[in-house]
Amino acid sequence: MPISKKIAEEMKKGSWIRRMFEEGIKLKKQFGADNIFDLSLGNPEMEPPQKFTDALKKIVNDPVKGMHRYMPNSGYPETRTTVANIINRESKVKLVCGDVVMTCGAAGALNVVLKALLNVGEEVIIFSPFFVEYVYYLDNHGLKCRVVETDADFMPDVAALEKSISANTKALIINSPNNPTGAVYEDRHINQIAQVLGKKSAEFGTEILLILDDAYGKIVYDGAHTGCIFNHYANSIVAASFSKTLSIPGERIGYIAVGPECSDHAEIMGALAFCNRTLGYVNAPALMQRVITAAADVVIDISIYQNKRDRLYNGMIAAGYELHKPKGAFYLFPKTPIKDDVLFTQRLIQERVLAVPGSGFGRPGYMRLSYCVEDKVIDGAIEGLKRSIS
Ligand SMILES: Cc1ncc(COP(=O)(O)O)c(C=O)c1O
Repeated sequence: MPISKKIAEEMKKGSWIRRMFEEGIKLKKQFGADNIFDLSLGNPEMEPPQKFTDALKKIVNDPVKGMHRYMPNSGYPETRTTVANIINRESKVKLVCGDVVMTCGAAGALNVVLKALLNVGEEVIIFSPFFVEYVYYLDNHGLKCRVVETDADFMPDVAALEKSISANTKALIINSPNNPTGAVYEDRHINQIAQVLGKKSAEFGTEILLILDDAYGKIVYDGAHTGCIFNHYANSIVAASFSKTLSIPGERIGYIAVGPECSDHAEIMGALAFCNRTLGYVNAPALMQRVITAAADVVIDISIYQNKRDRLYNGMIAAGYELHKPKGAFYLFPKTPIKDDVLFTQRLIQERVLAVPGSGFGRPGYMRLSYCVEDKVIDGAIEGLKRSIS
């Protein structure tokens, strides 16, 4: 039975992350796992915080009757209230349970939002370099993808954004802290984006939705801070996750938070619950919702990631690489010493270092290095990176 032609085609092209993952398996078999320095994946090696594990144990040891049953498609009211209260620490407009839908991670959240709010053929803008899955998510819902370059510091180029908005633009997805660059969009950047969206919405008589992909949440360094979009723009939605902030990506728990001042708010909440169900997620995992209710206010130890960032960054600077010191997430995005990023990452494979070419994120001439790995992997990679540049 043949698979869909489109999927066959897409799988043939594959994602660079996937290709590197497969390369890693091959190399680990050949040379032993300890001799491969794999910086290709955003799969954190850090264990979740104690409070998460304690909450999980408590629920398992002291079960609540009916805790494995279906629930309202938006999730448990107490979990949604907990999430709303956490957002309210930063939001000037106050969110309540009814503004939140629990989802299967940020990936689930983004797909539910796109399905619920956008019409086939409408255009969504993303900034480059971008998280490559966006392209697939947009395609899932018959949406057009328009890519706008960021500036030399990987920050939003608002002039370019303004030029690219048309009457068919329905949404802008921003991602901060950013994968792959580690850039963090502060209040002033969010405000500039909000101004442009407001101006162009008025010009075209449309409503442009601002979606913040907050998958990396509070993983920020050096006092950086992603601006709260609800404070700047009414038609705003956050798609967020506990995958990275609690180091539990396999558990698939995240949420959608809709700005209380978003137009058609009640219809949107109904549509999100409907799409959570009909896209096949039904609801976010019940057990994880209960754990999150008890542990949503904790975050993994950010200082560990900051030390890893510094370790890899300093090693690369000493080796002669050109790169920004990122303020968030757990990636470095250096220039490749030769223009051909694919060729350079192949050269790195000879040194048993795995990195993802920038081409995989819409930005050739760069590469992404993930530092959510053990220090010994970072140290081994630095040696290979040094040899590859000389
Ligand atoms: C930018 C970005 N958005 C969304 C996701 C999806 O995260 P989740 O595990 O919460 O679905 C990821 C995962 O790596 C990501 O990097």
